Amino acid sequence: MTQDELKQAVARAAIDYVVDGEIIGVGTGSTANFFIDELGRIKDRIKGAVASSEATAARLKSHGIPVLGLDQVARMPVYIDGADEITASGAMIKGGGGALTREKIVASAADRFICIADESKLVDVMGKFPLPVEVIPMAVPVVTRQLAALGGTPHLRMKDGQPYMTDNGCMIIDVAGLQIADPLAMERQVNNIAGVVTVGLFALHGAHTALLGTPSGVRTLT
Ligand code: 5RP
Repeated sequence: MTQDELKQAVARAAIDYVVDGEIIGVGTGSTANFFIDELGRIKDRIKGAVASSEATAARLKSHGIPVLGLDQVARMPVYIDGADEITASGAMIKGGGGALTREKIVASAADRFICIADESKLVDVMGKFPLPVEVIPMAVPVVTRQLAALGGTPHLRMKDGQPYMTDNGCMIIDVAGLQIADPLAMERQVNNIAGVVTVGLFALHGAHTALLGTPSGVRTLT
């Protein structure tokens, strides 16, 4: 099976976690896109969705799924999203697609986080995937120095020769070469650096369930 086929399989399996008559939180990325396409098939069963990025909102709308803001939705039963790395205990690195802050915000308004990923994302120790950190633009030099002091190699994310800009008008520093032995401590530490909007570590609030695509079927970790 290709990686896309594995992503499609978990996206389909995630439909079982959609609560009828409710609003669902939806993540960002290629796996989330497969999920949105599946959600489009059952859109009459839900009231609508809260999107974690402009790209996700556009895709949801293209399927005719109503997109609601957090001013209209107090709580959701479920948030479904991909991950760049995940541990067996549900801690994740996210933000490869640049939507980490809104993903964390929307996930915080949901009772359960269901992570969907192909099994290559499951790791014992996170950090092989560079850790994304969303930063206020004027703080980039000072935050870069503090991230380097943690032992990693920070790089400002670029797109088309310019700093990549998030939906929030901020920049992203990707930190390579970290061995994240204690994700909870690292999440707290990086979030405490002045100028950091969000670190792409989801450990304080990780996934409740992970659906991992394998060639022999979807494996569920709870
Ligand atoms: C976007 C994310 C994505 O969930 C993460 O990058 C995984 O993406 P993909 O499903 O394309 O592998 O955090 O900000």
